[in-house]
Amino acid sequence: MSFYESWLLPRLIGCACGSRPVARQRARLVPLARGVVVDLGFGSGTNLPYYDADLVSRVIAVEPDRSMLDYRRDRRRQDIPVQDVVAGAEATGLPDACADTVVVTYALCTIPDAPAALVEARRLLKPGGKLLFCEHGRAPDAGVARWQARVEPVWKRLAGGCHLTRDPVALVQAAGFTCETLEQRYLAGTPRFAGWTSRGTAVPVAG
Ligand SMILES: C[S@@+](CC[C@H](N)C(=O)[O-])C[C@H]1O[C@@H](n2cnc3c(N)ncnc32)[C@H](O)[C@@H]1O
Repeated sequence: MSFYESWLLPRLIGCACGSRPVARQRARLVPLARGVVVDLGFGSGTNLPYYDADLVSRVIAVEPDRSMLDYRRDRRRQDIPVQDVVAGAEATGLPDACADTVVVTYALCTIPDAPAALVEARRLLKPGGKLLFCEHGRAPDAGVARWQARVEPVWKRLAGGCHLTRDPVALVQAAGFTCETLEQRYLAGTPRFAGWTSRGTAVPVAG
């Protein structure tokens, strides 16, 4: 792994994912998690401060990049156990129905096979469990979407494989979830090509 990938990239991602508008999205979503939580594409654990220790018994951190897991390990919480699983979200190796909540934030853009990761999320959820997601993606405005398509090839190389043109809500629905809540907006203080955000909760469609 290059110096860029192992040292600089975790820090750049940490800055982008720790911005104030993104933090506000996390603050609205992550406290909804309950019980055993699987956090897909955990990164360096930016969601951790937002979990409610009275509601969450354990977080299973699924992340294929060891340098992301190690970055800011010293800031892990004492009141919620975190289990590292070094694996892709597409095939976690975790047992069926082990999670009350699956959380995926700003990772469906990067996970190479996002549809497979969401099928895995379905497999991991216990009956009655929920998927919580917050993702950037393809903007509804044609002009912005055109820019996203233009910028994406370069962006992907600089931002660790992050896509700008994926539609997270369509991905969630195609994997057999139905959205219980959904809020979409351009994030304040964020360039529009990277700022169209979808935050929601979803449950598996019965059957
Ligand atoms: C932009 S970061 C987001 C991290 C974190 N979820 C957050 O909200 O800040 C995207 C993360 O997806 C991870 N990733 C890449 N490929 C993955 C895969 N196949 N499965 C799970 N995560 C993956 C990257 O290593 C990176 O940590």
